[in-house]
Amino acid sequence: MKKLLEEIDSRLSKAFESCGYDPKYGVSTVSNRPDLCEFQCNGAMAAAKQYRKAPFMIADDVVAQLADQECFSSIESVKPGFINIKISEEYLAGYLNEMRESDRFGIEGNVNPKKVFIDYGGPNVAKPLHVGHLRSAIIGESIKRIFRFMGDEVTGDVHMGDWGLQMGLIISELKSREPELCYFDESFDGEYPKEAPFTISELEEIYPAASARSKEDKEFYEEALEATKRLQEGDRGYRAIWNHIIDVSVTDLKKNYEKLNVDFDLWNGESTVQNLIAPMVERLKSEGFAHYDQGALVVDVKEPEDTKEIPPCMILKSNGSALYNTTDLATLVMRAEEDPDEVIYVVDNRQSLYFTQVFRCAKKTGIVSDKTRLRFLGFGTMNGKDGKPFKTRSGGVMRLENLIRDINDEMLAKISANEAIDQDEAVKTAEIIGLSAIKYGDLQNQASKDYVFDIDRFTSFEGNSGPYLLYTIVRIKSIIKKAKDQGIFGGTGAKILPAHGNGEKELMLALAKVSDYIEAAYKELAPHKICAFLYDTANAFNRFYHETKILVESDEAVRNSYLNLLVLTEDIMNTCIDLLGFSAPDRM
Ligand code: ARG
Repeated sequence: MKKLLEEIDSRLSKAFESCGYDPKYGVSTVSNRPDLCEFQCNGAMAAAKQYRKAPFMIADDVVAQLADQECFSSIESVKPGFINIKISEEYLAGYLNEMRESDRFGIEGNVNPKKVFIDYGGPNVAKPLHVGHLRSAIIGESIKRIFRFMGDEVTGDVHMGDWGLQMGLIISELKSREPELCYFDESFDGEYPKEAPFTISELEEIYPAASARSKEDKEFYEEALEATKRLQEGDRGYRAIWNHIIDVSVTDLKKNYEKLNVDFDLWNGESTVQNLIAPMVERLKSEGFAHYDQGALVVDVKEPEDTKEIPPCMILKSNGSALYNTTDLATLVMRAEEDPDEVIYVVDNRQSLYFTQVFRCAKKTGIVSDKTRLRFLGFGTMNGKDGKPFKTRSGGVMRLENLIRDINDEMLAKISANEAIDQDEAVKTAEIIGLSAIKYGDLQNQASKDYVFDIDRFTSFEGNSGPYLLYTIVRIKSIIKKAKDQGIFGGTGAKILPAHGNGEKELMLALAKVSDYIEAAYKELAPHKICAFLYDTANAFNRFYHETKILVESDEAVRNSYLNLLVLTEDIMNTCIDLLGFSAPDRM
């Protein structure tokens, strides 16, 4: 289906053309004076320069052509030369009925679906998920859903950090605590135990302890470097411990991501591509891309037009071990086998320079072809109310689990006031609403910006929040249910009729814009556009609801029209929140 604005533009363009002007001037926008009109076209102002004519004369000509168009309820030329437009109620109702009958509400999907990888989540094994990983998971999941909705073939890959120094740190720490373990006995040639020598909580204590120690104890740091290298070279005992670390961590990670309604098609990590590293390095050397600089192997990636210094991309450390860059490049080698159209990385803004280096290196060395678009979607920091990165009350790193728990408790306290809901349902509902609070609180901001995690605002049932949207959807559901229970809903076969009041028309206009917002979110990697749509729609619905007696409307056709408008609103809102990665309860 054409967008509403495109429908308007095609009529305006024809009118400009038949008056002898360039059709390119027939472009309209949503009005910035909704008190005067719904859409406006400023083309006559621009055309005036080309045709050396007063703009209002051009506007008058064009408007005269369109005066009796069924699509506009009013179209007028306003001095100095604006064209103010109101869409007709009949046309708008017809447009919505067509949306109801089309797939995806008439949103045109991608005619040539793209093959896309989304690299998001990026947890590090053996470290608990903290709020820093929250944004990547939330934004990446939404981008994945939006791309799928538009028809693309998308693979989401968690890309775990499981191959770098942190592994060596854990192994070294374990070795110094429990040197008698068989993994450290070089003469051991039996089978290693199935059971890990640590639990997830122990692991989560070992890593930070090791990390802190390495900063003070130079010798320990060297040991960890050496252990990392030995692991990467395939030491049997180290590999066995490493496998335990992965198993224990992944089980825990899956549980946590599930709570966030985030899932991955691939649970690959940096280690997945270990076998691709040596051949890749060989090629980069033999084809003259890589050279040694102070012992390290690097590829130069600076370009003449750079305005700031872009350092070389390091491929191997001077001790020969692989690093973050190496695994990212090797992962691209693997992804390139599928010849993707796009690879999108949802990672903290602070890694922006790093990805510039990696992308340039991958392009320059032919790891990915020209066809493949590498996109970095960098996100800002989640701050506390003090404007500093979000911390626990005592100033520590906030674990994601605890953050979710706090929000859910807050939600539970709020909905427990509703006595109609029993405790079990309340707990589940609190989780559903809590998730909307966290995700919408994040996604409503442009991803690249920092934002303040404000529990009070995010969990409020009023204002621009996830719970407000869910509350609105639940209200719609309950009206539809009542109508069904009372046997007064004639079903979805009935048409939506031309709007009877202003609130109704505003709601209809809001819904008709869904395709603009979803498409913009898709093109610009911008879930916040869908949030803006949802908020406008929820406000428009609530206005309509307050000024309209829906269930007691005595004219059956009108009542059915209202109810079908509600069904459409619910469908569209549900689709949109699903694109953001959360859902609505039946009641709250
Ligand atoms: N594990 C990394 C971190 O915690 C994020 C990984 C991002 N993805 C990537 N392909 N480098 O910072």
